[in-house]
Amino acid sequence: KRDIKDDIVWHAHTVTREDREAKLGQRGVVIWFTGLSGCGKSTIANELDRLLLDRGAACTLLDGDNVRHGLCAPPAVLSEEHSEEFASRFGLGFGPIDREENIRRIGAVTELFASAGVITLAAFVSPYRRDRDRVRKTIESSGQKGDFLEVFVDTPLEVCQQRDPKGLYQKALAGEIKNFTGISDPYDAPPNPEVHLKWKEGQTPHEQASVILQELENRGIL
Ligand code: PPS
Repeated sequence: KRDIKDDIVWHAHTVTREDREAKLGQRGVVIWFTGLSGCGKSTIANELDRLLLDRGAACTLLDGDNVRHGLCAPPAVLSEEHSEEFASRFGLGFGPIDREENIRRIGAVTELFASAGVITLAAFVSPYRRDRDRVRKTIESSGQKGDFLEVFVDTPLEVCQQRDPKGLYQKALAGEIKNFTGISDPYDAPPNPEVHLKWKEGQTPHEQASVILQELENRGIL
């Protein structure tokens, strides 16, 4: 049986990552936000994206809810032409295999952006350590060590539950949503994140984003 990989050959282009980074005057790094639903990942990432852009950086933000409307959406949602079988094969839910595939796809996309020299922010629950570590490996092997920065948005479950901005915790507790992170599905906290944002009462997303910005400066990324 032929393996599809036998028919696909990597093309080495002459415009390199280094060429792009030199023109942009920055390194393409990935800043990966992880944490429970409602912990503040998207808000802090959005704030950091604004701070970076204001400094003239080429940056972008990939966000869980948004990516699940496109790249990782069930195809049937996108077009009625697709069969149910197609939708169930390629659309992603929240079971362990689906999450693994979600993070693999996002990892591949962040790698493409980082290779283009873009500072790439990614905000996903990404609850499984193994999946996050795989992305780290992908990013570091296409670039260099230090190109992947994990930001742990460490907001206690009780605070997230109290915020419950989309009413999802309430539904999960009522058993209406299965595999809900923190309620009926595990969250593996990162043991050694590059940035650990421990929740403090009254701290603003702007202040939290500034902590990351400072870390980027300390590491010579900015
Ligand atoms: S994952 O685990 O990384 O694949 O999840 P992600 O792509 O970041 O999507 C998380 C958002 O989807 C909503 N949602 C759920 N989250 C966790 N568990 C379950 N079962 C679930 N079902 C829906 C939720 O709004 C998450 O958004 P955030 O912004 O994190 O609150």
